[in-house]
Amino acid sequence: MKILVTGGLGFIGSHTVVELQQQGFDVVIIDDCSNADEKVLNGIAAITGIPPLFEKIDLREKNQVVDFFKRHNDIEGVIHFAASKAVGESVREPLLYYENNIGTLVYILKELIQKEKASFIFSSSCTVYGQADAMPITEDAPVKPAESPYGNTKQIGEEIIFDTCKVRANLNAIALRYFNPMGAHPSIEIGELPVGIPQNLVPFITQTGMGVRGQLSVFGDDYPTEDGTCVRDYIHVVDLAKAHVVALQRLLSDKNDTNFEVFNVGTGKGSSVMEVIQSFERVSGKKLKYQIVERRSGDVVEAYADTTKANKVLGWKALSSLDNAMKSAWEWEQKIRA
Ligand code: UD1
Repeated sequence: MKILVTGGLGFIGSHTVVELQQQGFDVVIIDDCSNADEKVLNGIAAITGIPPLFEKIDLREKNQVVDFFKRHNDIEGVIHFAASKAVGESVREPLLYYENNIGTLVYILKELIQKEKASFIFSSSCTVYGQADAMPITEDAPVKPAESPYGNTKQIGEEIIFDTCKVRANLNAIALRYFNPMGAHPSIEIGELPVGIPQNLVPFITQTGMGVRGQLSVFGDDYPTEDGTCVRDYIHVVDLAKAHVVALQRLLSDKNDTNFEVFNVGTGKGSSVMEVIQSFERVSGKKLKYQIVERRSGDVVEAYADTTKANKVLGWKALSSLDNAMKSAWEWEQKIRA
């Protein structure tokens, strides 16, 4: 069974390709390599023994999308990762984000709905909840006004799929709302490859540990949390990747209750920035250099998932601990800097 993975050379995409191949799916990757490297294909093949098919396509080029689906008319499902995800950049370049994250989604859905039956998985984010009123966050928590064009593209993306599913029973879709992915494949063949200065906490920590960055800035320690730093739900990228496979299997087996469902994908456990730093220090045996600075604008105080729905309905649960995920992130960082 052939599955298209857009953005399949990226961090979450590449780990999902590995899990799909290991479950026997044939994978075709589309990536424009704007934020990923073709060498990731070698890493995937080193793990699974199967070099995935790859086409370098810019999904903003509608003709190329149409042409791709003509040539691959046996595609039965799409996992759509390809998108831009830097919050700050989205504020400066909103149209880039709307074109990249919304335009491409529309083009793909237009092709998919022409099929007799199609399955679609969308990369959404816990950012849709903003600062939720209660922890842990269930899927019923209200979607709050987006803090950035990036966050807005995730909300609009979900609405586009929802509206399409209402009138197209042949389309089966799931939106996975990711919490904070981190870590690397245990083989250390693939991992996170941020371009430039990392915006996310964990790659910034591991780069600081390697001396690539001088010190970590901790954005605020006066939040109303136990130690004053923000709390997030850090999930091992392999656990997150596996959630995509079970979601896809649900769609393909027609077990879904309605043709559009959303699931939180997290561990259910919140960790503060200080706890993440301590985890790094435990697994690396190194002291991390950091200083407390001003709060970062747009940060929510805390966000961690209620994963009951994914546990019950998908039969999926995150298995890895924070330390285990951190260990893989650290091993990966050491490998790419060697
Ligand atoms: C961020 C985005 C989120 C997006 C996700 C994609 C914001 C407000 N949220 O999530 O919408 O889906 O990235 O990857 O930008 N931190 C530091 N120092 C650093 C970096 C981070 O203290 O150098 C802290 C942050 O304040 C936060 C935590 O670490 O409390 C996690 O930050 P980050 O990795 O950027 O993830 P989110 O902000 O949760």
